[in-house]
Amino acid sequence: MKNIYSNIFSFNKKTLNKSVASLKKGNVVGLPTETVYGLAGNAYSKKAVKKIYSMKKRPKKNPLIVHYLNHTDADKDVILNNDFYRLYKIFCPGPITFVLKKKNKSKIQSLVAANLDSLAIRFPSHTTTRSVLKRLNFPLAMPSANMASGISPVNAYDVANEFKKKIELVINGGDSKIGLESTVISLIDKPQILRPGVIGLKTIDKFLKVKIIKTNSSIRSPGMMKKHYSPGIPVILNQKSAKENCALITFGKRYKDRPNFFNLSKNSDLKEAASNLYKTFRKIKNQGYKKIHVVKIPNKDIGIAINDRLKRASN
Ligand code: TXA
Ligand code: MG
Repeated sequence: MKNIYSNIFSFNKKTLNKSVASLKKGNVVGLPTETVYGLAGNAYSKKAVKKIYSMKKRPKKNPLIVHYLNHTDADKDVILNNDFYRLYKIFCPGPITFVLKKKNKSKIQSLVAANLDSLAIRFPSHTTTRSVLKRLNFPLAMPSANMASGISPVNAYDVANEFKKKIELVINGGDSKIGLESTVISLIDKPQILRPGVIGLKTIDKFLKVKIIKTNSSIRSPGMMKKHYSPGIPVILNQKSAKENCALITFGKRYKDRPNFFNLSKNSDLKEAASNLYKTFRKIKNQGYKKIHVVKIPNKDIGIAINDRLKRASN
């Protein structure tokens, strides 16, 4: 097979050095995380941050998440409070992002946070990205490695297909286990979920002293644009069937195997469904379908995050 993926590298000492050198020069690289793949750059470097926005064609008002190895590193840039430490102890490193007040003396480029006085921070658990972070004396601004408003990549090939030759290096860390972006929670004032993820509100609530506020759609994350996570073809929700030329995304064992049926989880396992969602969108698109119907997905646990993404994909 012709190697069209000359920019994808497996992870070893040599490619670790290569990515570290590239990041130190202010370049951006594709890195694996447990949620989705990210487009990483030095959060203290104007050159790197500008490059992230321009490569993704991302609106400047949509702030980026900054990734750290641990809370000691994050303490340089944000004010860490008790709620943060409670959740950090339980869930980190892992698929949760905290929005906190930025410190005045922080070296984070103001463009990273879209000139807000808050900052979103995350501690990814993927060992590859942690190895990279260990070698750096700066944190990584890292949005999902896809063009703005599209679907997040869940493996190295998705990233390379998204940016083609424009990305010089993607580290292959296998399929992202979770397959959906991190839960985003604001811990400024009262805790509030800004983006649902695999760690759900009910799970988080147990570890906080005050109740999480139910999200009011008008004060969500600035990046939670109505149209987002779009596969680029119409997505229609709560359907029961689809004609042959339309793909049907199904869930559970009552759906038959048909060429145009794509089951997210035959066992009705929402975790499995979450990890298959973006993969399935890409597969359907690649097979040339012009439209996607989706059956009703239970709106509980991880289903809440799945339905959030589906709703935005359908806008
Ligand atoms: O799982 C993830 O979080 C992935 C991996 C790569 O870490 N990253 C990711 O980044 O999903 P991105 O840029 O695609 O999504 C960042 C989300 C956006 O909805 C953005 O609006 C929100 O985080 N966000 C970032 N900074 C914020 C801030 N200061 N206040 C409120 N929301 C913020
Ligand atoms: Mg994204």
